Amino acid sequence: MKDLSTEYLGLKLKNPVLAASSGLTGNLDGIKTLEKGGVAAVVLKSIFEEEILLETSRHLSEAEKDPMIYSSLSETLDYIDRHIREDNLGKYLELISEAKKSVQIPIIGSINCVSNEDWMHFAKKMEDAGADALELNLFLHPADFQNKDFEKAYFRIIEKVLEKVSIPVAIKISKYFTRLGLTVKALSESGVSGMVLFNRFFTPDIDIEEITLTGGNILSTPQEQSETLRWIAIMSNKVSCDLAASTGIHTGKDVIKMLLAGATVTQVASTLYKNGPDQVKRILTKMERWMTEKGFDSVSQFRGLVSNSYEGNPATFDRMQFMKQFSEIG
Ligand SMILES: Cc1cc2nc3c(=O)[nH]c(=O)nc-3n(C[C@H](O)[C@H](O)[C@H](O)COP(=O)(O)O)c2cc1C
Repeated sequence: MKDLSTEYLGLKLKNPVLAASSGLTGNLDGIKTLEKGGVAAVVLKSIFEEEILLETSRHLSEAEKDPMIYSSLSETLDYIDRHIREDNLGKYLELISEAKKSVQIPIIGSINCVSNEDWMHFAKKMEDAGADALELNLFLHPADFQNKDFEKAYFRIIEKVLEKVSIPVAIKISKYFTRLGLTVKALSESGVSGMVLFNRFFTPDIDIEEITLTGGNILSTPQEQSETLRWIAIMSNKVSCDLAASTGIHTGKDVIKMLLAGATVTQVASTLYKNGPDQVKRILTKMERWMTEKGFDSVSQFRGLVSNSYEGNPATFDRMQFMKQFSEIG
């Protein structure tokens, strides 16, 4: 029996595979099924900041005072108003407390946020409902031409949330920063306990028959994991918090690679949709077999073993690899 246990955000986990935030983690039955499948913790489906702001007219009128924030949020507020059922917030808190009563694994609440408007009180309510930790999906989009303070906004949001809650907070970010390495390092020193690299934006496609923009694949493919792998390997020795690897992780082999790169844990969503919750059992079986073959007894014995190539200045190492690879092709 191999020791797959690990610690993430100060939580003791039985293995390093978490259910990422998705439709599968938005209801009690789904959470119970995922626990049976073997996941070590669940990140609940996100509640949107706009839903919290809509909760009371007080918050909405505060948003209205700031024309810039209100104008950028107003379309989403309208959308939420039309499409999202009443009392989503109450149901969300109920889901947290019911899940805490029904399953043994940690429950991580999730808020998808874009501004430092006054929605942080809800983070505190999630803590009071029993959430073991909180994940903020910081959904600031690099194509936002109005937001000139893109990076500063991250730090302001984190500061305000950390003032409100005492449970550990993780942030889920995209890879779209001017200087990703330096920014990830600075964010890891902001007081958060963990970072999820990376979230996955809407993937656009174009229908050439209809000549319209359409949605691409909702589910990821394993080919999408390489950017996550690269940045986990680059950053794992340089950050001051835990790292969760996310996007394109589908199999046991993928999980092992992320751990070798230095990830504290992995988060999976698409593979659960494609292969069902029992995919986690298959992932864990593969891990145990591989550990036996390689002579490892615990995850801590091999975590980060391959990240040392990126010690020093990772740019130099990547450039050398690039030169080597391309000089070999005639
Ligand atoms: C149907 C679906 C719903 C999702 N909903 C959320 C969400 O509410 N909040 C969030 O942070 N991420 C959400 N995600 C993104 C996943 O948490 C994850 O970051 C992304 O799918 C990449 O991981 P994967 O390659 O394992 O799918 C969702 C993904 C899917 C497929």
